Amino acid sequence: MSKIRLGVNIDHVATVRNARGESYPSPLRAALLAQKSGAESVTIHLREDRRHIREFDLKEIKSKLKIPLNLEIAATNEMLNIALKSKPDFICIVPEKRQELTTEGGLNLSYKEKFLNKLIKKLKKNRFRVSLFIEPSIQDIKRSRELNADCVEIHTGKFCNLVNENKNYSYELNKIKKAVILGNKLDLEVHAGHGLTFKSAKILKKVKGIKEFNIGHFLIGESIFEGLGKTIKKFKRILHK
Ligand code: PXP
Repeated sequence: MSKIRLGVNIDHVATVRNARGESYPSPLRAALLAQKSGAESVTIHLREDRRHIREFDLKEIKSKLKIPLNLEIAATNEMLNIALKSKPDFICIVPEKRQELTTEGGLNLSYKEKFLNKLIKKLKKNRFRVSLFIEPSIQDIKRSRELNADCVEIHTGKFCNLVNENKNYSYELNKIKKAVILGNKLDLEVHAGHGLTFKSAKILKKVKGIKEFNIGHFLIGESIFEGLGKTIKKFKRILHK
């Protein structure tokens, strides 16, 4: 059985960088560290409001990264043109609302259906791997097949929240399982992402048929704690030597 691939989302390195308006910490450095540490791909989301990743990040990361770059985009003409110009390896189409703090749910596949169809066709013609970020819903899996996507990424946010709150997650997990089974049957590559932590990833990895996990917020947050003590000690050595 092939191993589950890990895609590392580095958006929040850019969030910290942008808080100061300077160039540190560098998303490129994070992308290269993800690569060095065994990640199978790096994910960035270029939002309409550019709140974290900016176009120069995309350009720089694409030019230096050897593993695949997965660009998350909203279904707009602006993003299509950026994707065609910057040539990431993978594209994941996600919903986007200006006011949201994070991607709150999966795509509404019947909204702007014609445009979505055109967008996917154009991306596939240009040989991108195209994924749709969807809710764990049978209907959305079927629709993704009709739209000729290569992959679906199942939004795991609701399931992960229940796990985090120690609530009963079996209904949400069942929805995910059914979506994965149908996705595989229809020859869609199935991925999972949003809100994943060590605990929820351990549960979800047991669902057979998920090929890729994309993880960002928790992974970057946890890295602060993994590195904070070491960094403090390094400063102590600098100051007291
Ligand atoms: N997958 C997709 C399509 C996303 O848009 C995001 C970010 O919202 C993630 C995965 C990663 O989610 P998180 O940052 O919660 O790990």
